[in-house]
Amino acid sequence: MSAGRGVTRRLFFALWPNESERGALLDAFGATIAAAGGRAVLPSHLHLTLEFLGAVPDAERAALETLGAALALPEEVVVLDRLHWWARAATLVVAPGAPGPGLLAAQVQLRETLKGRGFRVDSRPFRPHVTLARKVRSAPPLAAPAGVAWRLNELALVESLSQPQGSRYVPLARWARAAGRADFGAL
Ligand code: 2AM
Repeated sequence: MSAGRGVTRRLFFALWPNESERGALLDAFGATIAAAGGRAVLPSHLHLTLEFLGAVPDAERAALETLGAALALPEEVVVLDRLHWWARAATLVVAPGAPGPGLLAAQVQLRETLKGRGFRVDSRPFRPHVTLARKVRSAPPLAAPAGVAWRLNELALVESLSQPQGSRYVPLARWARAAGRADFGAL
């Protein structure tokens, strides 16, 4: 709740892996996560944020869901093949060494559409990544990973709930692309 704006929720749009992609991420990076010594992100929380919105009045959620349903993701595979330790954030992340043009274009389209509708968006450049562990306070050993291929086929509008043990992420709406189609239907 925030004064004057009614109930608000911390929301973000993210690419959400399916079960097999989640498994592939854990197979590829599980040992690195364990060796990093921080707090591993729960497997069910792994995601790639497209746009973080911050606190949004609940009344605007329907507009965001309409917007999410209309976003076309390209038929593209993102290859997560670079591990990084981000010292300031104290996070271990994996990122694509070469994000495809479709991913970048979809993020720009989402950001511009949100801006056009008056939503507050991140002013920083888009840095696609999947956070694997938090509270990684010192440089972890980073083996050169085999890339994990992740097909861009599921978008989610996600709520971030602050809890004592860390944030909990709850998808409020998810859209999957039917094979061979660039547009979405609600799950
Ligand atoms: P991170 O994993 O690198 O922390 C929910 O917090 C998601 O939104 C996370 O993926 C987080 O990225 C991302 N995010 C981007 N900007 C954020 C911000 N200003 N505050 C919190 N999370 C942010």
